[in-house]
Amino acid sequence: MLLNGIGNSLKNNQKMSINTICCIGAGYVGGPTMSVIAQKIPSVKVIVVDVNQARIDAWNSENLDELPIFEPGLDAVVSEARGRNLFFSTDVEGAIHEADMIFISVNTPTKTYGDGKGMAADLQYVELCARQIAKIATSDKIVVEKSTLPVKTAEAIKDILENTGTGVNFEILSNPEFLAEGTAVQDLETPDRVLIGGDQTESGLKAIQALVNIYATWVPKNQIITTNLWSSELSKLTANAFLAQRVSSINALTELCESTGANIDDVAKAIGTDSRIGPKFLKASVGFGGSCFQKDILNLVYICKSLGLDEAADYWEQVIIMNNHQRSRFAKQIVTSLYGTVAMKKIGFLGWAFKKDTNDTRESAAIYIADKLIDEHAQIQVYDPKVTAVRMHSDLNALNSRTEAENSKFLEIHNNPYKALEGTHALAVITEWDEFKAYDWQKIYDGMLKPAFIFDGRNILNQKMLESIGFIYKAIGR
Ligand code: NAD
Ligand code: UDX
Repeated sequence: MLLNGIGNSLKNNQKMSINTICCIGAGYVGGPTMSVIAQKIPSVKVIVVDVNQARIDAWNSENLDELPIFEPGLDAVVSEARGRNLFFSTDVEGAIHEADMIFISVNTPTKTYGDGKGMAADLQYVELCARQIAKIATSDKIVVEKSTLPVKTAEAIKDILENTGTGVNFEILSNPEFLAEGTAVQDLETPDRVLIGGDQTESGLKAIQALVNIYATWVPKNQIITTNLWSSELSKLTANAFLAQRVSSINALTELCESTGANIDDVAKAIGTDSRIGPKFLKASVGFGGSCFQKDILNLVYICKSLGLDEAADYWEQVIIMNNHQRSRFAKQIVTSLYGTVAMKKIGFLGWAFKKDTNDTRESAAIYIADKLIDEHAQIQVYDPKVTAVRMHSDLNALNSRTEAENSKFLEIHNNPYKALEGTHALAVITEWDEFKAYDWQKIYDGMLKPAFIFDGRNILNQKMLESIGFIYKAIGR
């Protein structure tokens, strides 16, 4: 098979050809993003590398149900491109050596140690990548920051790459990813925009153009925004902060609705029809989760604090404070409604993932709500269509609230929703999986203890129908 690469004609007639792309990090971003690039441009070889052998094995699995990430439509994309021009490997050095363009898509979690603990982004994995590229590269490379990074990170990467003494030239670009989990393939195929930041020098602009040409294969050119490095890096943190702020803003009104008789869904609809506000991201919930919102806001808060911008830091921190409050008060409402005690009571959880259509559970509200209810000695019985039992146990254990043995006494995982809810005093909808709406609710009611309570943390169920069956139904913000 012949891979011809993608040519990049420049105004000054120089041509930059990208034949091989490497992506370091085969996670929720690296895997889907590179799969779509490979699918869209069969002439470019795309190698996704990771140090995690099990993850790479799963990406290479014959059985597409065993891909390490569940995303609607991803199996078809992988099956089309894998083995043709898409490869998953643990040979990080070989891929760096071969590639013209290297994406860094490794994790950038919140620091758990030292200066900035609990707030700043931990950049050790990104720096390791830069050092490895510096060590291995023998030909010029374009290095693309795909990970979400604090503004000015490119400066550190540049410093490492420009001091190798090997004569190899590096151009650094920032190309933050805006995909949301659960809709990753759709977001990658029809993004609202692609953002590319780079140096505004001749060689920087040439590198930007090379990456523009990749995306322009399928994204309309007017949706590809180019900026300098710092605007691009900061825009990513800002986008996540704005999105999370909308969720906290609507959630901040839910208690007020509950105590006044207003209905949060009506309020969201009423304000969302104002074209300046818009209807999206106004769904009241148990609180946002996911690997990005909390981490990126904390990072923004840390940057503001480091620069002495205390008012800006406090402003953004409030988004997190509100989110934590929303999770706690949901757990508290369950205890209060169940006559002040849940000790030895069984509570069913529908959903553990942080949102529907993903198997990702990072920062899911489910973990924190379960932890609080277990503190009250409740027995939690969970069903989630995509999350494994191993994942749920390790999520709870990671909080270090009690021993693993104690946790496993209180957390029971089922692969059948009716079994998970059998004999429970109450059930809580934590994730908005569509299948929950279509369950046989009479059958569930018949199997529960009475009075049977539903706490709908996503406002997705049909209140009238459930009340007519006999449930005591409690929504968020009504
Ligand atoms: P992830 O944890 O799923 O994947 C990161 C992968 O990088 C892991 O498999 C890890 O083994 C690998 N890795 C780490 N260091 C490595 C090294 N030196 N060499 C090779 N492999 C290495 O993370 P993710 O969710 O894909 O996120 C990656 C980045 O993208 C983060 O900065 C995140 O903030 C950002 N981001 C995430 C999302 C999302 O929805 N998950 C969306 C946009 C941006
Ligand atoms: C987010 C951003 O949307 C995406 O652009 C970025 O690249 C990564 O972070 P993600 O975390 O995957 O994506 O999912 P998202 O759809 O943003 O949902 C985040 C959390 O907010 C979920 O827990 C979701 O249930 C919650 N949410 C979202 C609400 O509670 N209400 C809403 O109206 C929207």
